[in-house]
Amino acid sequence: MNTLELAKERRSVRTFDGKPLTVQDREAVAAFIESIPNPFGLPVEFILLDAKENGLYSPVIKGETLYVAAKTEKAPHSEEAFGYSFEQLVLFAQSLGIGTTWIGGTFKREIFEQAAKIKGNEKMYCASPLGYPAAKMSIIEATMRKGVRADKRKAASELFFERDFSTPFKTDDKILSDALEAVRIAPSAVNMQPWRIVNDGSAFHFYLSHKKGYNPDGEWDIQKVDMGIALCHFMNIAGGNLTVENPGINTENGVEYIATVTI
Ligand SMILES: Cc1cc2nc3c(=O)[nH]c(=O)nc-3n(C[C@H](O)[C@H](O)[C@H](O)COP(=O)(O)O)c2cc1C
Repeated sequence: MNTLELAKERRSVRTFDGKPLTVQDREAVAAFIESIPNPFGLPVEFILLDAKENGLYSPVIKGETLYVAAKTEKAPHSEEAFGYSFEQLVLFAQSLGIGTTWIGGTFKREIFEQAAKIKGNEKMYCASPLGYPAAKMSIIEATMRKGVRADKRKAASELFFERDFSTPFKTDDKILSDALEAVRIAPSAVNMQPWRIVNDGSAFHFYLSHKKGYNPDGEWDIQKVDMGIALCHFMNIAGGNLTVENPGINTENGVEYIATVTI
């Protein structure tokens, strides 16, 4: 299945059936997490953590037996690199019928950091349960989905532009429209969809439209993790080379240049 199909099929799964991953699925995940390339060139290390053994839980997740956490050295663009690699795992899990939920807020961070043996300059921005979806969502899951309008996304005309931020981007190119649709429907923290893209020739400039209050300790920004997710979806379909060189396009306050993909 391709990235757009997987992105359409995926949703956050917060209610699991209580069964551990099959040996085959666990081995497939363990092999996959060793092989994820990253366009920022920053290594992201994944760790599979048994929930019970490590005392791991999230108040919004039910029936999970396993979590995956990841860590990276804190550096410029480490949030985006983390988002990119972790989303590759989310899509791979989806291809095996394994449910995930990005967790960056609704957990006791220090317990997960301890289990993942975070040290020195390392950061574990998010974690996720890994398991098989239960037949029925818990009440808390259904309520949460309503609260963040999880089934809704912004229109393409609000997100993708040509040359500057005033003209909506239009294309007849199937690969490009698939890549942009995959970005549009991607998961993001509190479903904020902070990504904006400005096309100029073969260049696609990615911007972050900041929502205040989303860098909890002032030290890192969860919405930059969202940007890594957007880059993952786009590049899986459109390919291209990633560079970071601000093209100097006029932006509104609170809109930050992140990276350019040239296809
Ligand atoms: C970086 C990031 C952090 C998130 N943190 C949480 C979280 O702490 N708890 C939670 O229940 N969902 C969390 N989510 C899931 C989002 O709420 C969810 O992706 C969004 O509402 C869209 O719903 P969907 O994933 O079902 O399409 C997070 C998502 C992302 C991308």
